[in-house]
Amino acid sequence: MCGIVGYIGTQTAAPLIVSGLKRLEYRGYDSAGVCVLSKDGLRIEKRAGRVKDLESIVDIPSIAGNVGVGHTRWATHGVPNDANAHPHTDQDGNIALVHNGIIENYLTIKKKLESAGYTFRSDTDSEVLAVFIGMLYKTLGNLEAAVRTALAEVEGTFGIVVLSVHEPDMIIAARRGSPLILGIGDGEYLVASDASAVIAHTRQVVYLQENEMAILTRSGFSTKTIENVDTRSVVEEIAFELEQIERGGFDHFMLKEIYEQPITFRDGFRGRLNAEEGSVRLGGLAPVADKLRQAKRIIITACGTSWHAGLVGEYLIEQLARIPVEVEYASEFRYRNPIINQDDVVIAISQSGETADTLAAIREAKLKGATVIGMVNVVGSTIARETDAGVYLHAGPEIGVASTKAFTSQLCVLTQFALFLGRMKAVSAQQGKELADALEQIPEQITRILDNVEPIKAIAHEYAQVSNFLYLGRGYNFPAALEGALKLKEISYIHAEGYPAAEMKHGPIALIDENMPVVFIAPKDEIYDKIISNIEEVRARNGRVIAIADDDDEHIPRVANHVIHVPRTIPMLTPILASIPLQLLAYYIALERGCNVDMPRNLAKSVTVE
Ligand code: F6R
Repeated sequence: MCGIVGYIGTQTAAPLIVSGLKRLEYRGYDSAGVCVLSKDGLRIEKRAGRVKDLESIVDIPSIAGNVGVGHTRWATHGVPNDANAHPHTDQDGNIALVHNGIIENYLTIKKKLESAGYTFRSDTDSEVLAVFIGMLYKTLGNLEAAVRTALAEVEGTFGIVVLSVHEPDMIIAARRGSPLILGIGDGEYLVASDASAVIAHTRQVVYLQENEMAILTRSGFSTKTIENVDTRSVVEEIAFELEQIERGGFDHFMLKEIYEQPITFRDGFRGRLNAEEGSVRLGGLAPVADKLRQAKRIIITACGTSWHAGLVGEYLIEQLARIPVEVEYASEFRYRNPIINQDDVVIAISQSGETADTLAAIREAKLKGATVIGMVNVVGSTIARETDAGVYLHAGPEIGVASTKAFTSQLCVLTQFALFLGRMKAVSAQQGKELADALEQIPEQITRILDNVEPIKAIAHEYAQVSNFLYLGRGYNFPAALEGALKLKEISYIHAEGYPAAEMKHGPIALIDENMPVVFIAPKDEIYDKIISNIEEVRARNGRVIAIADDDDEHIPRVANHVIHVPRTIPMLTPILASIPLQLLAYYIALERGCNVDMPRNLAKSVTVE
């Protein structure tokens, strides 16, 4: 949700900020803007649209000045237009601010400012903060004090960067609820929403903590709490390479990330899975091993795709470890005063590690005494840091807004977690070995699916113009059906629903006619015959069936209109292999419809607002 870049140093700031914003566009792409401090004051260029739209009308390299800020927006307050684009300034145009988050009490502050005679140019909560800082500066005469005093009154979330003509050799950053990192260069410093915007300049970063401020000058930086208590910052190394955040010859990040899955999946079990012993070593869970052994209940909390992975996790953990599992939308969990006991283990699953609802859910769980584990992709992210222990996904940076490789990595980690718990309980070495062997084969099986995409492209071509899709699966593949439907609606804007296949006759069957394609996930498991009956029910009503089936299934081509074959694996791992053609189907349908696959409308990758 919104990307922020700030720079202070000796280089021309504007092009550097704009190239950082491009890397952050996955966080929002409704409007973009830069502000650079020049000898004539603040020069601000901002427009509705993408960063490249701004570049097409403004000669960015010609903007002189080596202190500046930039912003790419995902609209919360106010439509995406030029006026609502960041940076925003105070009344006199001497202080500029970029903001990621929501100022919940902005109307109260705005009223106060209006009664003091201040006026506003935008509909945003962010401008209110900029004007408020400007007003405070008039009495305090010190930018840091003005920012600090304003933030003390603010309710809500923010990652902000502020600069001012009054104190031109300084930028100030502060965060609460929205991530910010400092990039530590040689005589230059950056601040950004995440490491992708600074890695081209430095690998040394400081993760700003909750309620922390940073004061950056050309000769150094200091950090303190918003309440003005000095803090000690730890410089860390960025955990990925620049190439990993580039498209590398693929048309879209989404496609690149789909094709990375043989590697990312293997990275998820490398050094963890011991196929000989049928066991798993998850070093990150060592601090909570006893709590896990004694856990009476596991609650998985997450949003979106990560929540779907959590549903598969429920089946896996209950099957292997025989511990009751509940899967909760983080957004619901946090607000309904959930019953949480001290011997509960709460697992937060998140690609970004910054999702506001998931973060709030784990804070609630910690407050109530539960042990909280993170399954997170982004190293050093807020959820990773706030959990008691965790397992990283090791999927590498995921840029495409539609999550793909993170999902399969989540399933990889959840499977190992279930085996890890299971081996503490009733799962034998032999059972563990069978599962581990099957898991080790997955990367090569994914490669085989990726080597044969023509049938998927043909199906995409045939169904690209329909208005609705139904996705059905049972058992482990019910969540896979939900995930397939989510992928399609996100990037192609076709309405799609996922259902447990057996639920179809309790309602959705009314939708079936010759215009309704139904995707069935139909591996040969213990409920295969039931799925075949469901397929027959759809065919009997002239529905069009696209089946994802095992490559040795000779029966299914006789009942389905189209079959996408995937290699055979054990039932527990079938949602992993099924998700690959579902991702590809969504991708190719979106392409057929001319949609912007990497930046679907209204979405942003990292949902750091409620
Ligand atoms: C779907 C998608 C979203 C995210 C959700 C949670 O493709 O990407 O549904 O899964 O916003 O995000 P994380 O996993 O970062 O917490």
